[in-house]
Amino acid sequence: MTINQEYDRARDFTLPGGATLSRIGLGTMRLPLAEPAAAREVLRRAVESGVDHFDTAAFYFAGERSANALLREALHPYRERVFIAVKVGPQRTPDGAFTAPATAAELRGAVERNLRELGLERLDLVYLRIGAMSPDPGESPAERFAALAELRRAGLVGELGVSNVTAGQLAEARAVAPVAAVQNHFNLTRRADLALLAECRALGIAYVPFPPLAGGDPAVSPAVRRIAEAHGATVPRVLLAWLLALGPHVCPIPGTSSPAHLADNLAAADLELAPAELAELTG
Ligand SMILES: NC(=O)c1ccc[n+]([C@@H]2O[C@H](COP(=O)([O-])OP(=O)(O)OC[C@H]3O[C@@H](n4cnc5c(N)ncnc54)[C@H](OP(=O)(O)O)[C@@H]3O)[C@@H](O)[C@H]2O)c1
Repeated sequence: MTINQEYDRARDFTLPGGATLSRIGLGTMRLPLAEPAAAREVLRRAVESGVDHFDTAAFYFAGERSANALLREALHPYRERVFIAVKVGPQRTPDGAFTAPATAAELRGAVERNLRELGLERLDLVYLRIGAMSPDPGESPAERFAALAELRRAGLVGELGVSNVTAGQLAEARAVAPVAAVQNHFNLTRRADLALLAECRALGIAYVPFPPLAGGDPAVSPAVRRIAEAHGATVPRVLLAWLLALGPHVCPIPGTSSPAHLADNLAAADLELAPAELAELTG
């Protein structure tokens, strides 16, 4: 599939329900692995730098350290405007092993756990992680998404999203309740989801690509390095600038525990790649 890439200078994206998030967010999955003081510092710096989109989950933890606890310690009482998105579905035992995904009946407990851990009364956005789950939850995505829609009606959740979905699963969820965001596996080294990314734009839905830097160790092509050098930029900055040019609804969530890397990633918003460079990267 081909897609016309162009830059939209908006730093924020407004979800269909009216809530706004910063297009460059911060993924917190790896923060529990960092030194806690450094992790908290990067979270505070992110807010100070205008990041208003934190991606977290109760199942992001390592031993005693969790992403939700770090967010709460660093940012609570959330005086600044802070948009927090949470994923539910996967479940882990305290020693870290993944168990069966949450059933529809268990999703309320998952949402309440995130509320408790974050010190919030309402989660801005909750994604149901649907695909690539083992063992199969034994219930349809629609049944499980309906449970989240009920929690939204109860006021515990602002917007609903889906993660790791096909176009068919997105349609199934949308038949149950409005979907505000899709979080799927997509980056320069993995572009198979381009059609769904384009569909989200047509629907006015945010598309949140993970992991946007291909996990930080991308087998990037010589072209990426050449383009980075030509702009005096880093490879991660080019990877993010390429994502941002895919549409104003694309909201990458790079993960970092380094203030310098955070600043580098945010600078991607000011890096404008030439149409020929975008075309070369997109292929
Ligand atoms: N929905 C899902 O199933 C799913 C699955 C996986 C991840 N996610 C989400 O996606 C987020 C991002 O994923 P990720 O953290 O695995 O991968 P990523 O954002 O692609 O890459 C993170 C890695 O890149 C490094 N890095 C970040 N900025 C850098 C820079 N400017 N220069 C050099 N290195 C840099 C980080 O190290 P430093 O700390 O040293 O900067 C870290 O090792 C996660 O936090 C999570 O929220 C979602």
